[in-house]
Amino acid sequence: MEAWLGWILGLIPLLGWLLWWWNEIWYALPVKRSCSIAGVKLPPGHMGFPFFGELFTFLWYGDGVGMYRTHLFGSPCIIACFPSVNKFVFRADDKFILEWPNVDLMGATSLVAVNGKAHARLRSFVLNAINRPDALRRIAALVQPRLVAALELWAQKGRIVAYHETKKVTLENIGKLFVSFEPGPQLHKIDRLLHDMVKGMRAQPLNFPGTAYHRALQCRKKVEAIFRVEIEKRKSQSEETVTDLMDGIRQIKDEEGKKLSDQEVLDNIIALVVGGYESTTLASMWAIYYLAKYPNVLKKLQEENMSISQNKNGGFITIEDISNMKYTNKVAEETIRMANVAAFIFRLATKDIDYEGYRIPKGWKVILWLRYLHTNPENFDDPLCFNPDRWNESVKPVAYQVFGGGSRICAGNMLARIQLAILLHHLSVGYKW
Ligand code: HEM
Repeated sequence: MEAWLGWILGLIPLLGWLLWWWNEIWYALPVKRSCSIAGVKLPPGHMGFPFFGELFTFLWYGDGVGMYRTHLFGSPCIIACFPSVNKFVFRADDKFILEWPNVDLMGATSLVAVNGKAHARLRSFVLNAINRPDALRRIAALVQPRLVAALELWAQKGRIVAYHETKKVTLENIGKLFVSFEPGPQLHKIDRLLHDMVKGMRAQPLNFPGTAYHRALQCRKKVEAIFRVEIEKRKSQSEETVTDLMDGIRQIKDEEGKKLSDQEVLDNIIALVVGGYESTTLASMWAIYYLAKYPNVLKKLQEENMSISQNKNGGFITIEDISNMKYTNKVAEETIRMANVAAFIFRLATKDIDYEGYRIPKGWKVILWLRYLHTNPENFDDPLCFNPDRWNESVKPVAYQVFGGGSRICAGNMLARIQLAILLHHLSVGYKW
């Protein structure tokens, strides 16, 4: 009995020690030798317990500092918080690929899933359709009637949950803009499917019945089927009519005169809906929140927008008006900075990469911690204060990476800004809250 007890008491600390160092021995030790030959080292850090790594610490404590190694979401990773590291990663397209969102969910031919030349080609299609002045002019005109109607409805309700309402109007506008869908059961169905798709994107990619990821894949198939029916319908229409983004993307030709295939159109429409829906909803919600918290900002916003709206017939503004709304644009930018809609970005190292004496081993994830940049007093004075006037001076460009950077910088960044400016205009000229 005593011998057994001795064994057990001896084994427990040994087991604990092994568990604590397992990831270090498994992942870090093998690459340390090649690092020392190359004269570099792994970023500092500890990788926690097997499989879970430091996931729980990360979920509890959120932010990290500097560049360090850890083990999260089932794989070894490096968290990067320095602007210069992020810039290096953004620009090194030949060394890193996008690691998230998952290719099966976003579609193998979507912008977020392809790399190199194929990415550049697709990007020019998407940018032409959503981020260039002509497209933005059309979009600005299309989104306003729904937005104005939604604001009137909010006022009638008297009390609203901003997240729910901004989500509703964003979806209605996305439906209209992307595929000319009117509010109704079909859009409602898409909403539920997208909700489960996004849940699956955030889950471990375990594909068997009962998992969030499995459900997300099923939902993706259903969303794709809805949009596929729409594409087929349009094949009988005249080529000339461009009424929405789906038409736009279907009709643009590349330098060789080629159009996108149906599957490319589908994958990219889905990627854009996913990319634009939650991000626009959250940015709009935060705008409402910050303006309620900062009445001095609201007052200045009202002054600028009242003077614009006096010259408007019918109340709708154009992108030319928006470019003259200097203060409004600063409020939009400050909202986007504070909202940190994309708190971090994932990349995957496709080879051993050395940076400033540190090794990022092949197959490890790199998590670029954008939120840390935007809330760091070294980059922004009093960073948690909502202060649109900080944009009177140009900020350190490298420290402002809300939309990412390099060749994958957000394809909807101008669209997001314009939509926010439109919301700020109509809110500030018509309402108090
Ligand atoms: C405030 C709103 C938004 C924020 C903060 C935001 C942020 C981002 C970030 C951080 C990335 C990743 C860049 C990278 O991996 O380097 C991204 C990519 C992307 N975003 Fe946005 N986004 C916003 C709105 C939108 C909208 C409205 C759309 C379209 C309707 C959109 C479409 C996309 C697409 C398609 C990509 C992938 C680009 C590529 O891989 O080439 N985003 N966005």
